[in-house]
Amino acid sequence: LDKPVQVKLVLLGEAAVGKSSVVMRFVQNDFSENKEPTIGAAFLTQKCRLEDRVLRYEIWDTAGQERFHSLAPMYYRNAQAAVVVYDITKASSLEKAKSWVKELQRQANPNIVIALVGNKLDLVQSTGAGAAAPAGDEGEEEEPDDATATPGEGAEQAEEGEQSLRQVPKEEAAAYAQEAGLLFAETSAKTGEGVVEVFTEIAKKIPIE
Ligand code: GTP
Ligand code: MG
Repeated sequence: LDKPVQVKLVLLGEAAVGKSSVVMRFVQNDFSENKEPTIGAAFLTQKCRLEDRVLRYEIWDTAGQERFHSLAPMYYRNAQAAVVVYDITKASSLEKAKSWVKELQRQANPNIVIALVGNKLDLVQSTGAGAAAPAGDEGEEEEPDDATATPGEGAEQAEEGEQSLRQVPKEEAAAYAQEAGLLFAETSAKTGEGVVEVFTEIAKKIPIE
C-alpha cells in the first residue's frame, strides 16, 4: 500500500486559547487542566485516515505568547495547513486570530488550507437538559397567565443561559470565516467535541499529489 502523504500543519493563536490542548486531544485523545504554556514550539505527528487515503500530519504547535511571535514564520513557511485558534469566551482572541489569518494570507503558501477554530465550547454548554436557565427564568416561561409568552420563548431563554460566558457569537465567527475563505468549527479540547472533525475536514481539502 502507498505510504501516507505527509502534511505540514501549523497551529497559531493567542496564548492560552488551547492550541496545545487541541493537539493533545487529537494526537493522544487526552486533556490536562493545567497545561504549561508552550515555549517556542512543539512538534507532534498523527495520522488521519480518509475513505480513499491516509495522511500523516506533521504538526507544529507554536507558542502564543507575544515574545515568540517573530518565530512563527519559521513554522508556517511551507505549511500546507494552518489551524488558527481562538477562545470563544474571550473576544480579543478572535481579533488576534484574524491578524494571524491576515499574516498567513500575505506570507504563507498561497494554497494553504486554513481552519478557524473557536475552542472551549464546554465552558458555554449546560450540563443537562433544562440546566441552562436559572430557576427564576424557568418559572416565568412556564407561567400560563403570562400574556407576553410566545411559543419560541423557551428556546430563546435556554440560549441566553448558554451565552453567559460566551463572548464570540458563533454566527459572527462563521460569517468572518466564510468571507475570508476559511474552514470553521467550534471545539472543546476538554470534551473532545469537534476536534477530530477539524483535522478530517482539512485533510479532505489537501490536494492529492
Ligand atoms: P500557549 O502555548 O501559551 O500559546 O497556550 P495554548 O494555546 O497552547 O493553550 P493550552 O492548550 O496550554 O491551554 C491553556 C489553558 O486552557 C489550560 O489550562 C487548558 O487546560 C485550558 N483549556 C484548553 N482547552 C480547553 C477547553 O476546550 N476547555 C476548557 N475548559 N479549558 C481548556
Ligand atoms: Mg501551547
